[in-house]
Amino acid sequence: MKTKNNNYLNHSLILTLFLLLSSVKKSEQSKQIPALYVFGDSLVDSGNNHYLPGVDSAANFFPYGIDFGTPTGRYTNGKTVADFLAIYLGLPFSPAYLGLSKSKANRIVTTGINYASAGSGILPDTNNKTVVLDEQIRGFERTVKKILLKGLLSEDAVEKHVSESLFFVSSGVNDHFKRATFRGSRKFASYLIKEFKIRLLKLYSLGARKFLVNNVPPAGCFPSETLHSKPIGKCSEKINKGISFYNKKLPFLLHELQTQLPGFIFVHSDLNKSIMDIRENPNKYGIVEVSKPCCPRNVNGNDTACHPYADFCKNRDTYLFFDVHPTERANQIYAIKCFIDHSICTPRINIRHFFSTTSKYQALNQSYSVSVLNLGY
Ligand SMILES: *[C@@H]1O[C@H](CO)[C@@H](O)[C@H](O)[C@H]1NC(C)=O
Ligand SMILES: *[C@@H]1O[C@H](CO)[C@@H](O)[C@H](O)[C@H]1NC(C)=O
Ligand SMILES: *[C@@H]1O[C@H](CO)[C@@H](O)[C@H](O)[C@H]1NC(C)=O
Ligand SMILES: *[C@@H]1O[C@H](CO)[C@@H](O)[C@H](O)[C@H]1NC(C)=O
Repeated sequence: MKTKNNNYLNHSLILTLFLLLSSVKKSEQSKQIPALYVFGDSLVDSGNNHYLPGVDSAANFFPYGIDFGTPTGRYTNGKTVADFLAIYLGLPFSPAYLGLSKSKANRIVTTGINYASAGSGILPDTNNKTVVLDEQIRGFERTVKKILLKGLLSEDAVEKHVSESLFFVSSGVNDHFKRATFRGSRKFASYLIKEFKIRLLKLYSLGARKFLVNNVPPAGCFPSETLHSKPIGKCSEKINKGISFYNKKLPFLLHELQTQLPGFIFVHSDLNKSIMDIRENPNKYGIVEVSKPCCPRNVNGNDTACHPYADFCKNRDTYLFFDVHPTERANQIYAIKCFIDHSICTPRINIRHFFSTTSKYQALNQSYSVSVLNLGY
């Protein structure tokens, strides 16, 4: 009896200590970045489109999510770059905003929310069947007034929370295509940058200060393009060139905002470079297939869509693209390149300002259970 009680005591002591230690660890992390708010398109959508009526693209069916455990509305086989970012920050995955407001009314989340919607653009006219960026930002505005105030109790606490949180914005590729017609050009890039600036200023006016912004991926190299090129697999130079005008201007916009707005601080992430590097040096990453999608495994005619229960490749880690979107492996490579070896994210001083200096490579590496990435570490 006595021994049993002692054991019980020991166990509860250990448990208390453990809880204490883990809460210390948690508060250390939350001092860094308390929350991750995500905006943009299918690269980072974590399930919002699943809640939209009549949307023609959703990814809430098998084989999407096959390496996540279940389809979630993510446009890949597993985790998105936003998920890897959350792992890196020591935060839970940011849940889809529409899922919170529709099915779990009034749920209080103070570690970040995802507003991204596949197919959306910076411009409202790009695809109005999606949650366009303006509407995503309005969602955040409602979050500040309702969810955050409820969770953090005072306006001061909300303001502090928002200013310390990370705002990840990944948008712009869909704007380059309007009703399937490519419209990228030098002139369009100037217009799109101006419009993007208005949205970033709106987020700033709501209290956002720390920004992580992706440039636009090389859509000319997406399977939807390269499967029809001659020779097959060749990127459309016309599309990549049209996009590069925007990509060249984006870092200047971010620098300008950092100079003009007190407290504004950014990290620019070169998503284009990450994808081009995997395309050009696939062996370095254990990738074998850089043109064909994993799903569908066999493309019939021009239909490159990954349909429910479509046949898909077995070795997903050896593919750059799951459908027209990157595989989980490509997303993980992106995260490591940005946060660990800093080869696609700049300026370095801001990365250090955002993220603790302790190496979280372990966490990123371990979050991926299948095999070792050979990046030379
Ligand atoms: C959506 O876009 C279509 C095509 O550009 C347009 O005809 C329609 O009026 C728009 N709907 C809304 C609600 O803006
Ligand atoms: C992507 O990156 C490559 C190599 O870094 C560059 O030559 C190209 O212009 C970029 N393309 C776009 C669309 O930004
Ligand atoms: C398939 O796409 C190519 C290139 O976009 C186009 O030239 C061809 O007409 C398309 N074929 C069909 C059957 O739609
Ligand atoms: C990465 O993960 C693999 C498999 O989980 C492990 O064998 C390897 O040692 C890890 N590498 C580092 C640097 O943590």
